[in-house]
Amino acid sequence: MTTRILTGITTTGTPHLGNYAGAIRPAIVASRDPQSDSFYFLADYHALIKCDDPARIQRSRLEIAATWLACGLDADKATFYRQSDIPEIPELTWLLTCVSAKGLLNRAHAYKASVDKNVEAGEDPDAGVTMGLYSYPVLMAADILMFNAHKVPVGRDQIQHVEMARDIGQRFNHLFGNGKELFTLPEVVIEEDVATLPGLDGRKMSKSYDNTIPLFGSAKQLKDAVARIVTDSRAPGEPKDPDNSHLFTLYQAFSTHEQQAAFRAELVGGLAWGEAKQRLFELLDNELGEARERYHALITRPADLEDILLAGAAKARRIATPFLGELRESVGLRSFREQVQVATEGKKKAAKAARFVSFREDEGFRFRLLDAAGEQLLLSIAFADGKAAGQVTKRLQAEELDLHAEPNAFSVRLDGQAVAYSPEFATDAERDAAMQRLREALAPQE
Ligand code: TRP
Repeated sequence: MTTRILTGITTTGTPHLGNYAGAIRPAIVASRDPQSDSFYFLADYHALIKCDDPARIQRSRLEIAATWLACGLDADKATFYRQSDIPEIPELTWLLTCVSAKGLLNRAHAYKASVDKNVEAGEDPDAGVTMGLYSYPVLMAADILMFNAHKVPVGRDQIQHVEMARDIGQRFNHLFGNGKELFTLPEVVIEEDVATLPGLDGRKMSKSYDNTIPLFGSAKQLKDAVARIVTDSRAPGEPKDPDNSHLFTLYQAFSTHEQQAAFRAELVGGLAWGEAKQRLFELLDNELGEARERYHALITRPADLEDILLAGAAKARRIATPFLGELRESVGLRSFREQVQVATEGKKKAAKAARFVSFREDEGFRFRLLDAAGEQLLLSIAFADGKAAGQVTKRLQAEELDLHAEPNAFSVRLDGQAVAYSPEFATDAERDAAMQRLREALAPQE
């Protein structure tokens, strides 16, 4: 079975070297695994929570999309899309909001940090807190649960949010699943051995410390940034200590063991810092040069990027649209056109019995057979009129069932002709179990 990996990238900034080593590069490597099915998206609804500058939002979406593609993400294999192109996400957010405990969200770190800051400053605890910030974890839960992701790789600051997605998904399953797992409960993945890069000053590379190395600036910008890396004051010829040099740490994140050993020996042997910086610059320029060219080519063709992302959204919606339909049904938002007719007549436990639901659509009249839990057992072929469909439902309850196993499903026949089909099953055993359940559901009851 393939593992579905899903992660979002908030579109408020320009990716730097730290993002590349810590998130982008490992995610792209993971997406190439034939056992995995990757969903990577631009979390631009999340970006609106933190940023009210439309120009910056737009620029960042474009830059991040171009960065991931330039770094080698295969948009045909992975599903790469913008959150804001999936209207099912905000719709699911509302369904989840209605089952999310306020007390759970009160405990979210980002919200609590704002409250603590306000209290310390003697302000109203909720000063400056929007409902967007408060509900941030619910939107993120919708991102994850919409696609039934198994694994969610994130930074440590996001662990709590993935746990909340589990809590919320579990609650929804409990309330509306009728014993069925509507949502897969996601697991957080923290990549332990992925590099957290130091920035120019040795602290973690981060936009908030203003110590970043640009990912796709010009070669000159890269060189200038490397020149600003802080080193100790040992003179040329004096032995350097690689293990206490963040310049060496940066070098390690992009080099082979042999390169590292050679560079270490040179530093211990007294290589001047200026030379060392030149070595690091060359290493980075070599690693990033081709991707940088692809990046600049992509950035100048925003219409092509738009097409790629819209194709990704269409792919994602092929999953999201029917699944949201199922979820709407599960909470009771159902079409009035479906008429409920209790399958078996004249018994006490009518409410618990399987039921036929007939409905009309473009091709004609169909019915579904739902079990007591609301799960679909059968979907009929289209009949010319409601009467023909009704006769078939009567005969299915009265006559001996004629079931035919197919590769992933089974059909029900009347007079040798298939009149209804089961859903698809992953295994033969599941299919056989469903055939048994159907027999029981339609067995005459006393
Ligand atoms: N909140 C995440 C961050 O800031 C981004 C994000 C949004 C996300 N939705 C997600 C990550 C869903 C993983 C899964 O990093």
